[in-house]
Amino acid sequence: MGNSTMKAVAVVPGEKELRLVDHPLPQVSSETQIKVKTLDVGICGTDREICTFVYGEPPKGDNHLVLGHESLGRVVEVGGAVTRFKIGDLVVPSVRRPCSDPGCNPCCNDKQDYCINGQFTERGIKQVHGFMTEFYVDDEKYFTYVPEELRDLAVMAEPLTIAEKGLAQAYAVQKRLPWACTDAGEPLGKGLRAVVLGAGPIGILGAMKCVVEGFDTYVYSRSKAPNPKAELVEQIGAKYYSKYDITPQELAAKVGNIDLIYEAVGGSEVAFDVLQVLGTNGVFVFTGIPAPETRLEIDSDILMRRIVLENLAIVGTVNADREAFENAIADLGEFNKRWPETIKKVITGRYDIADHQELLVGKSKGIKNVIAFS
Ligand SMILES: NC(=O)c1ccc[n+]([C@@H]2O[C@H](COP(=O)([O-])OP(=O)(O)OC[C@H]3O[C@@H](n4cnc5c(N)ncnc54)[C@H](OP(=O)(O)O)[C@@H]3O)[C@@H](O)[C@H]2O)c1
Ligand SMILES: [Zn+2]
Ligand SMILES: [Zn+2]
Repeated sequence: MGNSTMKAVAVVPGEKELRLVDHPLPQVSSETQIKVKTLDVGICGTDREICTFVYGEPPKGDNHLVLGHESLGRVVEVGGAVTRFKIGDLVVPSVRRPCSDPGCNPCCNDKQDYCINGQFTERGIKQVHGFMTEFYVDDEKYFTYVPEELRDLAVMAEPLTIAEKGLAQAYAVQKRLPWACTDAGEPLGKGLRAVVLGAGPIGILGAMKCVVEGFDTYVYSRSKAPNPKAELVEQIGAKYYSKYDITPQELAAKVGNIDLIYEAVGGSEVAFDVLQVLGTNGVFVFTGIPAPETRLEIDSDILMRRIVLENLAIVGTVNADREAFENAIADLGEFNKRWPETIKKVITGRYDIADHQELLVGKSKGIKNVIAFS
């Protein structure tokens, strides 16, 4: 390998192949860009799905797409006009980049997570190379600063942003009512009950966020307890229930009025089962992205009556803005203070880039797996 290339994990959709490629070393080419040396890259279901070639689009003119959208790195070079970072800083990058349509208000206002036309791009997913490589370059506005004490945790910032944005939306919706009678300085969820569906990384990090926000928090998932995910859930003061042990109706009877449901299972059947027990004036946040396979029969009249007569709100949420990244870093710091041992255990494995095949197309294992580049 020469000096001008680096190793990268990439899919080649035309050949239906996942492999290590020699990828050009990126260069800082504008005054506001920074160059980052990769430290950690998280692997998630999205990466594994891209490896089945259902989506994942290389940049125009390339036959391969470098994977990776959950990353932590260290700044090694800054453009002349960079103001927010210096060499040596730890940073996490966001994923989505705006479309070029001047009529897309969200993209024109740094809210590309709400892009109206689908023409956005996403690093490691859609038309821009990702972070599963040794260095990357991007505009400073797409990065968030990470304090040094979060060196071993901040690769989880991106999956945590899903909960950050989800809860921000729930709060925005619930401004419609005196949802929380909290005093100044008290967390917004105090006195309220949240159910998190699923105990994967999105669910566990979401449950941690709910606990920090003061909710009485319950996780409803698949595997029977005891299991490692249920243990993590119990360690943060939330309660874990398997759907094989109690029905959604039994769950609701235990919990009381369910004020918030944060869905992180990715399956519509269990999601719609649990939607039926959302409490009066409650909000249901969908984050899961199922493969379009399941068709359900539901008691639609009953559900519609409840949505109307009990002021239920249902929101979907995808991707995240810079505020969500900043909140994720702040909350990882809080999780680390409250549960230093538990938060570490969400990362169940650190691997070498050489293990990419096993991690991306082998049997799914653990909770959050990371490729370590340092
Ligand atoms: N909106 C966004 O921007 C965004 C971003 C990233 C990911 N996502 C989505 O978020 C979802 C969760 O991601 P993840 O990485 O945490 O997934 P994951 O690791 O697959 O975890 C899913 C969790 O849900 C449980 N589960 C699966 N099917 C179930 C069922 N039928 N009934 C009850 N529990 C069930 C699993 O139980 P076991 O523990 O027994 O396996 C597991 O705990 C995915 O759909 C993903 O596509 C959305
Ligand atoms: Zn991901
Ligand atoms: Zn747009």
